[in-house]
Amino acid sequence: MSSTNREVILGIGGGIAAYKSADLLRRMQDAGYRITVVPTPASLNFVGAATWEALSGRPVTTQVWERVDEVRHVNLGKIADFFLIAPCTADLIARLAAGRADDLLTNLVLASDAPKMLVPAMHPSMWSDPATVANVATLRSRGFTVMDPEVGRLTGNDVGPGRFPETQSILDTFNELTGYVQDLAGKKVLVSAGGTREAIDPVRYIGNRSSGKQGIAVAKAAYRRGARVHLIAANVDIDDLPGIEIEHVEDAAQMSRALQASFVDCDILVMTAAVADARPSSTADEKIKKDQYTHIDLTANPDLLKLLSTEKKNQIMVGFAAETRELVASAKTKMSAKGLDLIYVNDVSDGAIFGQEETEGTIVLVDGQEIAIARTSKDTLADLLLDYALKQLG
Ligand code: CTP
Repeated sequence: MSSTNREVILGIGGGIAAYKSADLLRRMQDAGYRITVVPTPASLNFVGAATWEALSGRPVTTQVWERVDEVRHVNLGKIADFFLIAPCTADLIARLAAGRADDLLTNLVLASDAPKMLVPAMHPSMWSDPATVANVATLRSRGFTVMDPEVGRLTGNDVGPGRFPETQSILDTFNELTGYVQDLAGKKVLVSAGGTREAIDPVRYIGNRSSGKQGIAVAKAAYRRGARVHLIAANVDIDDLPGIEIEHVEDAAQMSRALQASFVDCDILVMTAAVADARPSSTADEKIKKDQYTHIDLTANPDLLKLLSTEKKNQIMVGFAAETRELVASAKTKMSAKGLDLIYVNDVSDGAIFGQEETEGTIVLVDGQEIAIARTSKDTLADLLLDYALKQLG
């Protein structure tokens, strides 16, 4: 799946399972979907608009009468690539089947041609009522994907079909609908991110301005596409990324050891980290006083990619180059010196790229092919790099 086609309207019907959709929303965001939540007015009895606004980071309205100047029932419908309505109540199913448009969500459904998926949740006798059965059949015949509810315990002591399915099962069905490809399933992707810090003394270090954003974007994209992901993070301000193994390191030596240990069984290595080219020849145990702080002797750090390339079997190695001039020529020199299959070179003159959300540069493949990347998000670049790496993996 390309990095576009990810705008989703998450409709929330007025059922108790609405609270479970807070987790669903989070998991969909982890999977790279961009989400606008549109609750029915009734559903706000279970989960309020503030919760959806906080989780989605987007405004939440339930009626066409709100934010009228934005014509939300048309404009939201236009940006939506997919609809997921979860939970979907018997009443909402009936209104959708009748083609009604009495709140923002039903207006949007009518106004948009985007594929739509419903996740019913209700009491078993409502699910099996002939009216609901007929409504579901009508919606399915019109192209709606309607999940069957799970059988199990419902609110109260009743048991039967009507339970809201597990989040993973909803996501699996939704990913199928969106054509979301788990093309890295069974693969291990090793990513380095951030910038190493080489200690001078207990308080000072030699470092660089790498934020780690590009590496995090690659790790997340690889995970979303089904890979097992190991992220080696040098001084990156991040605690936890769901599903991703994060190993924190400080300096080049630690990063080198972590990479060596993990490289053996990886399929793709994406080396976004900025490794300090040199370290102090010795690290002082005590803080150096300023009258002695006159010069620092440096020792070159080994090139980590070059080291790894000597152990390379079938791994695809992706490197980065930060250049201020002769971008592609320098990238090609680095690619052959470091045994890479692919390199992304970006122009960092004027402090561009570091710490920013966007990037611009050129992907160079080992056969010399150049792919110009116009200004785009680091997330999009992450997917593109994985696309090309996977192609080379064959
Ligand atoms: N890299 C590495 N080990 C180092 C330095 C860099 O593995 N000691 C990796 C980086 O992670 C990156 C690529 O090499 O993927 C290119 O890094 P860059 O700093 O642009 O290149 P250098 O080889 O350091 O060359 P120079 O600084 O002279 O441009």
